[in-house]
Amino acid sequence: MENLEDLKIQTLKAIDNATDSKILDEVRVSVLGKKGAITELMKSLASFSVEEKKEMGKKLNILKTEIENALETKKEALATAELNAKLEAERIDVTLPIRPENQGRIHPVSKIYEEVVSIFGEMGFEVAEGPDIEDQFHNFNALNMPANHPARQMQDTFYVPNPESADFDDSYVVRTHTSPVQIRTMENKKPPIRIIAPGRTYRSDYDATHTPMFHQVEGLVIDKNITMAHLKGCLYDFVKAFFELDDIPVRYRPSYFPFTEPSAEMDIGCKKSKTELKIGAGTDWLEILGCGMVHPNVLRAGGIDPDEYQGFAFGVGIDRLAMLKYGIPDLRTFFESDVRWLKHYGFLPLDESSMTGGLSNNGGAAR
Ligand code: PHE
Repeated sequence: MENLEDLKIQTLKAIDNATDSKILDEVRVSVLGKKGAITELMKSLASFSVEEKKEMGKKLNILKTEIENALETKKEALATAELNAKLEAERIDVTLPIRPENQGRIHPVSKIYEEVVSIFGEMGFEVAEGPDIEDQFHNFNALNMPANHPARQMQDTFYVPNPESADFDDSYVVRTHTSPVQIRTMENKKPPIRIIAPGRTYRSDYDATHTPMFHQVEGLVIDKNITMAHLKGCLYDFVKAFFELDDIPVRYRPSYFPFTEPSAEMDIGCKKSKTELKIGAGTDWLEILGCGMVHPNVLRAGGIDPDEYQGFAFGVGIDRLAMLKYGIPDLRTFFESDVRWLKHYGFLPLDESSMTGGLSNNGGAAR
């Protein structure tokens, strides 16, 4: 076995010369595979004396490790080179003009999102954000829903295991509403607070008007002497601007949310017929959002003194607003990524929503 040194030189050379990962793997198999040179040598040790076995075994192991290291280093170098070559070959010039027939469309959810931000932005609201994966404190407890509160069941929550704790109370949730952003905002900001928090929310539900992932916008206003009249005025201005109508009948029905007191649901006037839904004056009503005065317990959980400050909050479904404003009948189609649907209901990228430019820019791209 004096050719061990030769085997080493030859193999390292072959590794060095390998130009792609397939060739490199062939080299590996030829040395370390089932019938590889080193494997065979290892097998042949059986016929050696104990002393020789010990010495040769040691040498072979050192050689094996050396070759394995060289293979690993080369493998990484090849992978980097292959990735770089791929990136180079697939380079796209993003500054090239697109063909009009291939032009992409803005999804109605993004469009409504922009419209809502633009309306509340004009009123002096800032946009706030929170994580999609929430702890139970922010999603429930701090919102006046302690463990075992019946409202927790109402929300069809998806729980996410906590890798650091087997205790169910420590598990995370994918947020069931955007209301946890209320708490996160209060934790980080002193009043006056005036924010909206648009984002994704999740509940285990699936039919024509419910999907497991959907979108909401939360609104929160906290200051001294805030009353229900402020809430009503603010939301009235919002729906008028959003539906682009000079006047629109609204009504508030008493409701229940653990985190607001009193709580209400807001309806807007409409005319329903078999084939059409017309928003505005009419004899029918359509529920559009949930709202109320922030519960003192929620203010306390956010570190705000309820004797000094009051606030109102509301939560609107963005997808639902899109269905109403643009007449889209089935929510499930929003998330099917069908390009024909997007072409029909989507918007041209340069139609930016603004209060001065007209929010909807004459409806969808197809109209
Ligand atoms: N979080 C409530 C929901 O998802 C909506 C809401 C928000 C109600 C804020 C009142 C105040 O149904």
